[in-house]
Amino acid sequence: MQRNPFREGMPRERSVEPCVMTIFGATGDLTRRKLVPALYNLARERMLPPGFAVVGFARRELSHEAFREEMRRAVDTFSRSRPVAPEIWSDFAKGIHYCQGDFGDRQAYGRLGVLLQQISRERNTRGNNIFYLATPPGHYESIIAALGASGLSGSPLPPWTRVIIEKPFGHDLDSARELNRRAQECLREEQIYRIDHYLGKETVQNIIVMRFANGIFEPLWNQKYIDHVQITVAEDLGMEGRGAYYDASGALRDMVQNHMMQLLCLTAMEPPVAFQADPVRNEKVKVLESIRPLEGDDVGREVVRGQYGRGHVGGRGAAGFREEQGVSPGSTTETYVAIRLFIDNWRWAGVPFLLRTGKRLPKRATEIAIQFRPVPHLLFRKEAPAIEPNVLAMRIQPDEGISLKMTSKGPGAMTLQPVVMDFRYGTSFGADPPEAYERLLLDCMAGDSTLFTRRDEVELAWRFITGILDAWSAEDAPALHIYPAGSWGPEAADRLVEKWRRV
Ligand code: BG6
Repeated sequence: MQRNPFREGMPRERSVEPCVMTIFGATGDLTRRKLVPALYNLARERMLPPGFAVVGFARRELSHEAFREEMRRAVDTFSRSRPVAPEIWSDFAKGIHYCQGDFGDRQAYGRLGVLLQQISRERNTRGNNIFYLATPPGHYESIIAALGASGLSGSPLPPWTRVIIEKPFGHDLDSARELNRRAQECLREEQIYRIDHYLGKETVQNIIVMRFANGIFEPLWNQKYIDHVQITVAEDLGMEGRGAYYDASGALRDMVQNHMMQLLCLTAMEPPVAFQADPVRNEKVKVLESIRPLEGDDVGREVVRGQYGRGHVGGRGAAGFREEQGVSPGSTTETYVAIRLFIDNWRWAGVPFLLRTGKRLPKRATEIAIQFRPVPHLLFRKEAPAIEPNVLAMRIQPDEGISLKMTSKGPGAMTLQPVVMDFRYGTSFGADPPEAYERLLLDCMAGDSTLFTRRDEVELAWRFITGILDAWSAEDAPALHIYPAGSWGPEAADRLVEKWRRV
């Protein structure tokens, strides 16, 4: 068995319970690229509960065996540990099953129910079920309704049923509310696990630990000492075959509503009373409630949207967004967005939070940078008329770690130079962090929803985003700026901040 320092201590913390995970949309990309590789890696590290089984549910006709083979190929291609270890796979694969059916076909749910009972008897999974909605979002409501109608929606108590819902959770405030309402017709809130895979990243959880397990940061973590905060989620990739989905979604819905809002909440929230689901989520909700809404003319001032045209990424020519497969040639969907927002509360009054994300930027880099205010009086005016600000940068990925930029005396004569203190996960812990989905799937098996989003959280994030979407669809909508693929986005975004950080 592989030793993984990121797992140590976990079994003592809580116990995962025997269960079957049914994946709706089992022949899709998410299952192949993320879910089954994550489960395999958990099997490899002996983290799965005894008897654990997977049922793939999808429309295609497939035998159990053919599905197992497909999943094995998926693990071989996408798992962080490759190639598949035959002895681990053969054991894991015994628990893999397949159920063919249309998502709205009630009879298929009858067959699924029979299969789940059979597995529960054979593998002693005690009737506990997880249903994972990994289909296109248009099917979510009918799957949930069918689970309810066929008696599979169960209860939060043993034998329990939990339902994991993938993003996007709605496409605006009204649709998110409607999905929540429909889900709660059949399920209790404690049974619903709305996933945001950013919360499963080690470095994202470390934001909370950094802030609340160290005495030195929290006293400075407010408007008295912080000048502004920059949150960057940059990607160099383009559409990778997801053009049709993305054209209907755009960067604001795809990245800001969920992942970036979560990063913002963890950075800005007050200390929760405990590291548990409700206390943590209560604090995140307060942040979302305090974000100053951006509506009407504010949007033109505080938000910049862009779309990549042709350019070069990594030394190679790259097509423009409108030339990507599945994207309409006249598309006005944004592939870049930058926002300046304010959190109107005691801690953050007047501190700008700058968010930017985009596709086809020069590199993949996600980071949260806290820029501190300058010293009140500079002694060294003669030696250095201006010094660089202190910046605490939490690198979420890649090259996970945290750095602190300070000013130091240069060697010899009295000169002032910026220096950086750097912590790297790889160096300090001797291993790369596990995939986000591994952690989140395990949390769901343990009934821990701390790293999943609650109903009010999702709706408040949509409330903020919908204000921007409305302004963008108005007649006098602010411009969509075209930026060359491989650049740092539209120049118009430069007016939001004195200087964007080089990440
Ligand atoms: C997904 C988005 O939620 O997150 C993608 O739909 C994006 O467009 C991806 O590429 C980024 O995730 P990660 O883990 O690679 O940063």
